[in-house]
Amino acid sequence: MIGPNNSATAELRAKFAAALGEGHQSEWLAAFATVPRHLFTPTFYRQDDQGRWQGVSEGDTGYLETVYSDTALTTQLDERGIPTSSSSEPQLMLTMLNALDTEVGHTVYELGTGTGYNAALLASRLGSDNVVSVDVDPDLVHLARERLAKSQYRPLVFAGDGAEGYPARAPYDRIIATAGLRCIPPALLEQAREGSVIVAPIGFGVARVTVSNNGEATGRFISTPAHFVPRRTPSKAPDFAGLESQPAEETTVPAKDVLNRLKFPMSLALPGYNSCSWRDDDGNLTSVGLWTEDGSTASAHVEGKVRQIGPQRLWDTVEELALIFPAGAPAREDFGLTITPGSQRVWYHEPNGPSWPLPTE
Ligand SMILES: C[S@@+](CC[C@H](N)C(=O)[O-])C[C@H]1O[C@@H](n2cnc3c(N)ncnc32)[C@H](O)[C@@H]1O
Repeated sequence: MIGPNNSATAELRAKFAAALGEGHQSEWLAAFATVPRHLFTPTFYRQDDQGRWQGVSEGDTGYLETVYSDTALTTQLDERGIPTSSSSEPQLMLTMLNALDTEVGHTVYELGTGTGYNAALLASRLGSDNVVSVDVDPDLVHLARERLAKSQYRPLVFAGDGAEGYPARAPYDRIIATAGLRCIPPALLEQAREGSVIVAPIGFGVARVTVSNNGEATGRFISTPAHFVPRRTPSKAPDFAGLESQPAEETTVPAKDVLNRLKFPMSLALPGYNSCSWRDDDGNLTSVGLWTEDGSTASAHVEGKVRQIGPQRLWDTVEELALIFPAGAPAREDFGLTITPGSQRVWYHEPNGPSWPLPTE
């Protein structure tokens, strides 16, 4: 039996925390050295060469070494094999915890309990009574509660839509989201104390905003890329069949740009967008597809032919972004976020620079 006090895991954990902290100081490193990640991830899934998911559990070769390394662990898959929960990369977790800028005694609300590991790190440093964590999936909440209790942590963990917060314990000094969001949920802004810091994945980045008063908040994105499991919301399927009946338009934006250099600005300008690609038998890209939760769909062929359908003309947005960012991938830290009551806007370089509205729920 592998236990939290087992000296082999304690040694692995100490090395793991030291490697995470290499080059910088952080008060969170003690939590990483203390909390037994393996108790929160008794099984995770890894893709083989063919893309098939394989479970890896305690006792499997390399299990403990992977758990105590800077690796994101997929812990839940839906019926299509799409990850719906994971324990994020520890280095990214550390970056987000550092960005929260907590002090002992602060209260923290977490959206996205998942395995409960981050809630345990928060409880380890701030005390269980100061931590509230919520996940939309009641099965995950049940498991996280059990595993937290086994590790001697008892934060308040419950099932629900994390975007609604938990007013009974508000206001919070700090708020962290570990599911991908399309905006900072208004209820969380209402439940944040004046001066509180909110750290949340938005698009393919992580925003850090400071809440002033009257529902206002502002801040920047941190430089680290992030691809979080998205917050679960109802959405429409893409309409690739409907595209067939649409006229082909010309574009000069290379289809491949939406798969790499424009990805981050697209994730802000088209919140929650999805993409796919088609390749020929030699693996060369032939087309890309884009869609958003309202069913808007676009496809672009590498030879410059585009088709679009639905309430939003997605490729028009891609063309606008390609004009603003004519070459290279813009740095995340050059983007910011300004929130006023009723509006949320991401901007490039300065609040008066190019900007894109985020949905407000
Ligand atoms: C990357 S995982 C969270 C990792 C977690 N903090 C940990 O330490 O294991 C994202 C989680 O967000 C949850 N989630 C998705 N939509 C949500 C919502 N609307 N409210 C709360 N949680 C949500 C998913 O069920 C998933 O467990």
